[in-house]
Amino acid sequence: MLLNPEQNAMLDGSRGYATRKAMQILVALGEIYGAERMIPVSSVQIAGVSYDNLGEAGLQFLSEMADGGGKVCVQTTLNPAGMDIENWRSLGIQPDFAEKQGRVLEAYSRMGVSTTCTCTPYLTGNRPLFGEHIAWSESSAVCYANSVLGARTNREGGPSALASALTGLTPEYGYHLAKNRRPTLTFQLSTRLKETSEFGGLGKMIGEHIQVSKGIPYIKGIQSATLENLKSLCASLATYGGAALFHMQGVTPEASSFTPPLEQVEVSQPELESVMQSLNDATAAEVDFVSLGCPHLSIHEIEQIARLLEGQHVKKEFWIATARATRQIADQLGYTRIIEAAGAKFAADTCCVVAPIQGRFTAMATDSAKACYYAAAKNKFKTLLLPFDEVVRLALQ
Ligand code: F3S
Repeated sequence: MLLNPEQNAMLDGSRGYATRKAMQILVALGEIYGAERMIPVSSVQIAGVSYDNLGEAGLQFLSEMADGGGKVCVQTTLNPAGMDIENWRSLGIQPDFAEKQGRVLEAYSRMGVSTTCTCTPYLTGNRPLFGEHIAWSESSAVCYANSVLGARTNREGGPSALASALTGLTPEYGYHLAKNRRPTLTFQLSTRLKETSEFGGLGKMIGEHIQVSKGIPYIKGIQSATLENLKSLCASLATYGGAALFHMQGVTPEASSFTPPLEQVEVSQPELESVMQSLNDATAAEVDFVSLGCPHLSIHEIEQIARLLEGQHVKKEFWIATARATRQIADQLGYTRIIEAAGAKFAADTCCVVAPIQGRFTAMATDSAKACYYAAAKNKFKTLLLPFDEVVRLALQ
């Protein structure tokens, strides 16, 4: 790779241990993917925050980077942690885990990372503009940034995202280049989607198609989609297909620059239903855990929950996962009071996937196809995928 004098100085260690290590990571990545140069990034989102995923080795790496003088030089936000930073006890988190999670957050904080702990940074102030080069990890947010916002990022891992934060750079390859953003396969819907859970189901279906071809989907036939629909679709496409980018005719900003690819897959209502049904191996009677907020909930979704729970009491453990900043808006608007009076619990800063809850429940109900995948694969729960409102109603039964 061609590095300029400043980048060479970072690599030879004259800016300290952490910057050298960061530059080594980026150069290695660039060489693997054939990048010719580094380009500046304006925003970073770092995944790899929960101690449940990082373990001792991850904590040690972060501590070394912080001790080695690492300091971010662009806006940098964090993915969810393994617990609600303030109310971890109410979620059943053990003190030993909380102590280690605290050390992870402290290491990030020493490097100047905003410890926002959300997978929807675009809802809480880290929202890049069209065409901006960024370095994000967190697969659902990567897909949202590329597709819905039209920003440009590869699917970074935690260490490479941190490396970009510490240098303000990323190697120029993959989705940073216009030629790699062209759609390769059209998906034509002949059914109307209403529920966010249906968008998640669509993401699973398309994801499984493109998993093999590694293509970029061009989706036709959706008249309109809300922010909540799109964040669910992004999470699902990334989970089931490894997708980092899609285009949706009439909805996403780059779609009009392309002609839909000739190769086309039809998506019908029965097929979609069967994909969604494949995520249901629990009965309603078996559900002992209800979770909404994968990806983290918007304030609009929290308002909906408050409306449905007002004056009632939940009969199951019910987690509402969101960013702390969104929870604070909910506090001000009175939604938190209604939700907590009903016995549901906010899981701010965390979620049902990254919290250490393996073995605690038998079956989980959710509106998120992504959460179903990890509930089964990581936590060994049975799952029930339902529309948003029905998930809330089930918590009351
Ligand atoms: Fe976010 Fe956790 Fe889902 S990080 S996308 S809520 S698995």
